[in-house]
Amino acid sequence: MKIMEIEGARELSGTIRVSGAKNATVALIPAAILTDEEATICNVPEITDTEALCDILKLLKVDVNRASESVVINPQNMENTEITEQFSKKLRASYYFMGALLGKYKKAVMYFPGGCSIGARPIDLHLKGFEALGATVKSEKNKYIVEAKELKGANIYLDIASVGATINIMLAAVRAKGTTVIDNAAKEPEIVNVATFLNNMGAKITGAGTSTIKIQGVDHLHKCFHEVIPDRIEAGTYLIIGALCGKNFKVDNMIPDHLDSLISKLEEMGVDLEIGLDYIIVNKKDDGYKSTNIKTAVYPGFPTDLQQPFTVLLTQANGKSKVTETIWENRFMHIPYLKDLGADITVNNQTATVIGQTDLKGTQVVATDLRAGAAMVAAGLLATGTTTIANVEHILRGYENIIEKLTDVGAKISLKEI
Ligand code: EPZ
Repeated sequence: MKIMEIEGARELSGTIRVSGAKNATVALIPAAILTDEEATICNVPEITDTEALCDILKLLKVDVNRASESVVINPQNMENTEITEQFSKKLRASYYFMGALLGKYKKAVMYFPGGCSIGARPIDLHLKGFEALGATVKSEKNKYIVEAKELKGANIYLDIASVGATINIMLAAVRAKGTTVIDNAAKEPEIVNVATFLNNMGAKITGAGTSTIKIQGVDHLHKCFHEVIPDRIEAGTYLIIGALCGKNFKVDNMIPDHLDSLISKLEEMGVDLEIGLDYIIVNKKDDGYKSTNIKTAVYPGFPTDLQQPFTVLLTQANGKSKVTETIWENRFMHIPYLKDLGADITVNNQTATVIGQTDLKGTQVVATDLRAGAAMVAAGLLATGTTTIANVEHILRGYENIIEKLTDVGAKISLKEI
């Protein structure tokens, strides 16, 4: 088992370069099979989720070449075989192969996806979308067989603006006959990035980034070159770390516009930010921050994926702050560990009340999921003494070179095999 060990309470200074967005990459890789030609995707982060998807491509006999920061995908000799549970359960985003295989072959056979245990995570909206396009869905225990004689464009209203359902329906609809309209679509920047990729391959998608997406089906998609957008959640995590421990701490290669909700909360708390075109410099304020309340919401609201690390910052705010989680039922698993580190937090249903300012002291904690893990890293960097984090594989699924990046700015952090 691997653990992460952090000697905390050090000032961090220097530049961290943000990697390509995990949640865009994990959709772009399955989307690449929709053409029969070569797709080159660059700025691809080296994280275990990317590896797991490339393993699925290889299972489907797709040629995959990984060079530094890019992946070249050629599905010329691809075979549409069943995606077994061993492959599907490694990550949530394996479900994008459902939409992509259905779009290309009119048939997908795969097992229920895995991913962080942050809630029930149903996929009913994805399946309803496929059915609206003309597919039938059969499920036998954990296995799904989705197939159609023909896919026909349809008007689809999503009950919830789901990121996954929006992308999966887009993938299934790009090669369908006629026009598909997705209403109440999710508006996250990763969706725009995927739509741009598909359009680069010859798809006809308009409206991505708004709540109505229109997809005019095409017969053929061609080769293309595409770049993954910077990871807004990674950038936000490092901004929070900068507010906790930074001096001239620069988060570089990011898109500040994608983090408007976080930035306005940081400013409200009194965090010192210098916002550039593609970077933000942050300095820790020694006399503490103002308390604030956050409520997670779909984009452009406050991202659920930053709620856990942001809670660590709230332990350093004067007085009472409230955190309300509205997207996932089970995203407070980091709280008991923050309390072990010395935080004063109580949870009542979906709201956590944080009383600051508290001194955090290093101890043994667990990364229960990816962003809970990021919260443990932020807390460990702030805390005095040594923090050891177990289950670090969750963190490595989503943060490229986190040890190297933090070491470069002065952190004492290492991975150990025990
Ligand atoms: C994506 O998950 C992200 N994952 C998540 O990031 C992120 O937390 C989430 O969007 C919200 O921003 C990827 O992009 C791979 P949803 P996704 O479908 O697509 C309910 C991280 O840490 N719902 O937008 O699975 C669902 O239960 C991860 O990087 C249904 O009820 O999220 C949830 O309450 C974790 N039925 C809400 O909608 C469905 O069919 C939003 O989920 C689909 C979703």
